[in-house]
Order: sequence, then C-alpha cells, then structure tokens
Amino acid sequence: MIDLTAAVLPADPNVHAAYVRALERLPANLPGHGYEPEGLEELREAVAQSYRRRGLATSPGQILITHGAHNGLVHLLRLTVRPGVPVVFDHPTYPQAIDAILAAGGRPTPVALPDDGDGWDVDSLVSACRSSGAPMAYLVLDHNNPTGRMMRAPDRARLLAGLKGSETLLVLDETLVELTLSGPPALTASAVDAPRVVRLGSMSKSVWGGLRIGWIRADRAVIQRLAQSRASFDLGVPILEQLAAVKLLTDGGAALAARRPLLRARRDHLRAQLAQHLPDWSCPRPAGGLSLWVRLPAPISSALTAQAETEGLRLAAGPRFGIDGAFEQRLRLPYTLPESELQQAVERLARGVKALGRKSRQTTSTQSRTVLVY
Ligand SMILES: Cc1ncc(COP(=O)(O)O)c(C=O)c1O
Repeated sequence: MIDLTAAVLPADPNVHAAYVRALERLPANLPGHGYEPEGLEELREAVAQSYRRRGLATSPGQILITHGAHNGLVHLLRLTVRPGVPVVFDHPTYPQAIDAILAAGGRPTPVALPDDGDGWDVDSLVSACRSSGAPMAYLVLDHNNPTGRMMRAPDRARLLAGLKGSETLLVLDETLVELTLSGPPALTASAVDAPRVVRLGSMSKSVWGGLRIGWIRADRAVIQRLAQSRASFDLGVPILEQLAAVKLLTDGGAALAARRPLLRARRDHLRAQLAQHLPDWSCPRPAGGLSLWVRLPAPISSALTAQAETEGLRLAAGPRFGIDGAFEQRLRLPYTLPESELQQAVERLARGVKALGRKSRQTTSTQSRTVLVY
C-alpha cells in the first residue's frame, strides 16, 4: 500500500544524534521534579531566538512548549471558545484543525480561498471575523495545507489593519513556514506582528513528527493563562524531547536546507507524472509546503479515494479538507515520498480513474472524518 494521507518526511538525519546529546544532558535535570508547565527555559529561549532571527522581538516568557502545533491549537480553543461560538478558518484547511474546532463545540465559519489565483480574500476574512464576532480565526498563511499557498506581505498588513481593535484572536499556524521551495521565503513575509496575533510553531514538518514538539507564541499574559488552563488537560512535555529539540533548533536547520532541493525535485516529478498519465487534471505548482492541491475534471474525489484503496493507494479525499462535502473536485497529493513511489502512485491513480470510468459515478463513498491526515 502506498500511503498518500501523510504529507511528511521521515526524521531529519540529525535527530538520533540530538537524542544522544539529550541523554547525556539528562542527569543535570534529574534532581528537579521535572514538571515544566510552560516548557524548559532553555528551549523557550531557543524558540524565542528563532523568532528574533526572523525579525520578531520575542522573549522566552512569550513561548509555551506544547506536544506539537495541534496540541497548541487545542489549548487555545479550550481557553477561548465556548460551545456555539463561531470560529473562522480558511477553506480548505488542515483537517484535524476542523475536527478540533468541532470537538470544542465551535461553530465552523469557513472563508473560501479564492479558486483562481493563489491569494486570500482578505476582505471576506475581515468581514467574517467582524460580523460573526468570532473569538478566534485559525489561519494557515504560510504554505497552507493543502494548497501550499502563502499570503503576501501586503495582504497580511491589510488583514491585521482590518482586524485592529476587533475581539478576534488571530491564530496563525506556522507549522509549514520553513518549507518555501520557490519565491520569497514565508519566514520573511510572515514577520508582521500585532496584539491578538498568536502563532503556532512545530518541529513536525521541518524536523520530525515523532518529536511531538511545538509551541505557542503569544503575549506574556496569554501564555500565563494558557499555562494555567493546560494544567487541567496535560502537565507539560517530556524533558528528554525538549533537550533534543534545543539541540536541533540551535543547530539552525542545516538538514532542512539540504532537503529543500529534494522536495523541489519530488514536487516537479509528481507534476510531470500527472501531466503524462492524467493530462486532464490541473496541478498548479505550489511555492512551498508538501503537497499538490489538484483539480479533478469531475467531482469524483471520494469515489476515486475508495477505488484507489483497491489499487493499493491510500488517499485523503478533497472533502476531508473542508466541511459540508466541499472539494469533491479536489485531491491533495503529497510529494514527500521518493520519486519511484510517486511514479507508482500516479500509475495506480490512473488505473483507479479508468476503473471508475467503467462504473457508475453514483457510487460515491464519503470518507469518514476519523481518517487521520497529516
Ligand atoms: C497546518 C498543520 N498544522 C498542524 C499540524 C500538526 O502538527 P503537529 O505535528 O506539530 O501537531 C499539521 C500536520 O500535518 C499541519 O499540516
């Protein structure tokens, strides 16, 4: 089975050495009780430093270490969202974020990403936040998952200006911010700040998902409230993982720099294969991120996903990235696997499309919301 439900790379080659170094440093931490509800001071300083390098003045007191960005979102939802209140988000977006909003009882308030072009409809975002009085907007502006698109700096400035003085907490999920493959880096464009902007960071896509290390960057007062409210849910992140993360962060992402050309090659290979085998599919080239957001010639995403499973290919159907059955004419295809596997995946896709053509298209099956997608 080739699995295309995950847009993630295997571990950065430095992860093992970072754990060895962390084990060597562990004894110095053992005399303490080991509970660090905000995270180890030295990791919070390493994360703060990474923001300062981007031009965002940040102190360790503005950082809360979490079990990944998703866990950070869950903590923010618990703090700000009461059942029935609207939560604004880009549509499409990261599926587990929608699930978390639903689980918190939030009322999903999607704002469509324009179908043509690769920007955002900033006016609609601002008016959705203002007219609904949403306490939170969750946005993935830096290589949005699944589209890969990145909001340009002038649009960010317009968004922040439009929301000035509003009640909406703007939660920017920067999990993919380091994954620019062409054009101006998202890291630079995203260096705009304002009160009520909260950032979610993660090492999952840039280093390894198995670390389960992420963070929240916010005003000190918000971090203090989060540290208190998280305690009814979890009591912090393991010390060993935090020590390994310090090492990986202070090493400065050399491995990621080496991986960008590899990802570029895989992205271009996947597009070339699709152009050859499925020429009526439209596959825009994303400037970054880890997947293509493909437009299908007909609304067959769920049916094709079910068919592909029988061909040995696991997919996340387009509707998984939205609500109310949207995106039946879309499919997310990650380009994180080696080229030979991507080639086989496209061959299986093409076989799936052919087999589907022989059947009645009415056999649309809907993929359950419980399918995990990364
Ligand atoms: C936009 C986005 N946010 C969050 C996550 C989950 O990140 P983490 O592993 O840090 O919890 C993912 C994983 O796919 C993602 O794409």
